[in-house]
Amino acid sequence: EKGGYDYFMLKEIAEQPKAVADTLLGRIDPSGSLTLDEVRISPSELREIDKVVIVACGTAFHAGLIAKYAIEHWTRIPCEVELASEFRYRDPILDGRSLVIAISQSGETMDTLMALRHAREQGSKVLAICNTNGSTIPRESDAVLYTHAGPEVAVASTKAFLTQLVACYLVALYLGQVRGTKWGDEIQAVIKDLSRISEEVERVLDTMEPVRALARTLATKSTVLFLGRHVGYPVALEGALKLKELAYMHAEGFAAGELKHGPIALIEEDVPVVVVVPSPRGRSVLHDKIVSNIQEIRARGARTIVIAEEGDEAVVPYADHLIRIPATPTLLQPLVATVPLQVFACELATARGNEVDQPRNLAKSVTVE
Ligand code: F6R
Repeated sequence: EKGGYDYFMLKEIAEQPKAVADTLLGRIDPSGSLTLDEVRISPSELREIDKVVIVACGTAFHAGLIAKYAIEHWTRIPCEVELASEFRYRDPILDGRSLVIAISQSGETMDTLMALRHAREQGSKVLAICNTNGSTIPRESDAVLYTHAGPEVAVASTKAFLTQLVACYLVALYLGQVRGTKWGDEIQAVIKDLSRISEEVERVLDTMEPVRALARTLATKSTVLFLGRHVGYPVALEGALKLKELAYMHAEGFAAGELKHGPIALIEEDVPVVVVVPSPRGRSVLHDKIVSNIQEIRARGARTIVIAEEGDEAVVPYADHLIRIPATPTLLQPLVATVPLQVFACELATARGNEVDQPRNLAKSVTVE
């Protein structure tokens, strides 16, 4: 049932193009507008929303962090993202005009469930983004947008994460459409790019052999750092989480702009640092900043592993290892930039002799607090 793969995780990584396509299926009509039937919150209710709060744990939380950039940019609605375990105990300010989005692959995560119960008690509407039909979180929510990743067996989340991102983009675009914010050429272009993204994910998967080879050479390292900016920052966090849980290595993700505020002290000779580089097109200031961050860490001896768009030549002189990803709009880049990090963590885990599908101490669904 592993379909010829050694591990479920490898199979699930390979299934991502289909999972992404399935999650988009039937939700964008040929004219480019969105239909999200399972969102049982009326357009007039959605027009009243003045705040979005996303709650989730672990990898799903990272999807939420990325969603914030898209929601605020496309809809201009303020959006907060919080770990469900923190949100619950914080006495958050919510009311009938808050839309709470609970993201959960399993639909059974206790902290996320408790967070959504709390939100409903405050009169807020709750929309679940979930991969498991009929699970508790969607049952208790006002509305649900299912991700169609199919069953995810490996403990480490991969295809569920990519489809959570797709669902978040759909919700953001739908909110924009319903509210008439920024609904124009830019959004139409994004929808077009989103409909093509599954092929781009496929292209990334076809070029992963050098990433595997690189991972094998790092098996004896004790630490790996990850840097990103903008949506690349949550991607860095996700890359670090995957490495911790699978390879049992110390790994940390940082916002590249924070380097000078502490983390740069960690840089020493030959420490591998993975850098997620935003597109040089579009908001090029982000790109230029990160190129100078790469220069800074390399000057201090870091071994730079750079994930950059095809055609981005500016990074070449500073990359000890270069991983190419297809050009995508900045906000969609996490869909392609995360894939090499999944492959990297999986290969390192294998090289270190770890149990890939069942990492120590972890459970697939965390139904206790
Ligand atoms: C990491 C991972 C976990 C889950 C987290 C939330 O690879 O799988 O961090 O993302 O436990 O689980 P769900 O999405 O089921 O609520």
